Amino acid sequence: MLYSILLAGASLAATVSAECSRSTLQDATDAYVAAQSGGSSSAMTAVAPDVTYTENEQPMDMSSGVLTQALTIDRNVSIHDTVQCATFTELIAASAEHPYVIGTRMLFDADGTQINTIESIVTDQGDWAFNATGYLYWSSMEDWSPIPEAERDNRDVIQAAGDAYFDRFNNVNVTVPWGTPCARLEGGAYTGARNVSANTCNLGLPETIEVTNRRYVIDEVMGAVDMFLGFPGLDRSQGQEPMPDSHFFRVEDGKIKYIHTVSSCVEAGCGLSGMAPPSF
Ligand SMILES: *[C@@H]1O[C@H](CO)[C@@H](O)[C@H](O)[C@H]1NC(C)=O
Ligand SMILES: *[C@@H]1O[C@H](CO)[C@@H](O)[C@H](O)[C@H]1NC(C)=O
Ligand SMILES: *[C@@H]1O[C@H](CO)[C@@H](O)[C@H](O)[C@H]1NC(C)=O
Ligand SMILES: *[C@@H]1O[C@H](CO)[C@@H](O)[C@H](O)[C@H]1NC(C)=O
Repeated sequence: MLYSILLAGASLAATVSAECSRSTLQDATDAYVAAQSGGSSSAMTAVAPDVTYTENEQPMDMSSGVLTQALTIDRNVSIHDTVQCATFTELIAASAEHPYVIGTRMLFDADGTQINTIESIVTDQGDWAFNATGYLYWSSMEDWSPIPEAERDNRDVIQAAGDAYFDRFNNVNVTVPWGTPCARLEGGAYTGARNVSANTCNLGLPETIEVTNRRYVIDEVMGAVDMFLGFPGLDRSQGQEPMPDSHFFRVEDGKIKYIHTVSSCVEAGCGLSGMAPPSF
């Protein structure tokens, strides 16, 4: 996705609201997936008339963005945060004529009846390591099923695992709770490609990058946290401008098992002139 100017510090921070029910949130993500597959946002009924809608942090009218395209969805996974009344959905459209991988975060208002914020990272050819076929292939080999009740981590533990990962980007002394296996899927490239049983998440992390504007969706049932954030330096053509990014973590027993990233470039290839991302 090409676009010109990032809206710096867009005021999309989660407004923490009353708890809402899992089924309300599930209805919302089902409707969202149906809307994208049908190519019409009108399938989404719980949306506030003045909803804030963004794609790659650019505010726009919901009825003019990617939701106008009917996409064959090859895989969708959603998580539901009943404490923050928030959801995250990963959509993989690999077999679509125009392939996409999309990460979408939705927030409900305080009484849990209407969605007042929808933000998507919409990636396609030219975005960070983009390969929807690879995204589909590798994620289909992973287990993202609900965690048995007796084995669930609490939300603080799940969030702490994701936070440790990004805290480590700016402090080599932070210990990240890696699992074995642990694999990272970036755009379509997979660190675990050579050995899916190993911990390959820890292949050279940055040491001086401070990610900004972390926005969480946490689901204890799915053992998952998604973080939207600003990733400085991701697009080499943009200097240290934070880039729109989503990291979706699967955490089991307090340890990171999978990380899925969706990262948008301003210039096709993120200014890397066709080189693979540095971690591969
Ligand atoms: C989304 O995923 C669910 C669960 O895997 C599946 O039942 C549903 O058919 C999928 N929806 C679409 C539109 O592909
Ligand atoms: C995309 O991923 C698939 C599955 O891993 C792989 O076969 C294919 O070569 C990849 N395409 C590119 C352009 O890297
Ligand atoms: C990491 O630990 C080493 C050794 O204790 C210390 O010298 C260094 O300043 C620490 N780095 C950071 C970023 O805290
Ligand atoms: C893959 O990783 C596992 C876990 O680290 C290790 O036991 C195994 O020997 C590795 N397999 C290969 C072929 O390297």
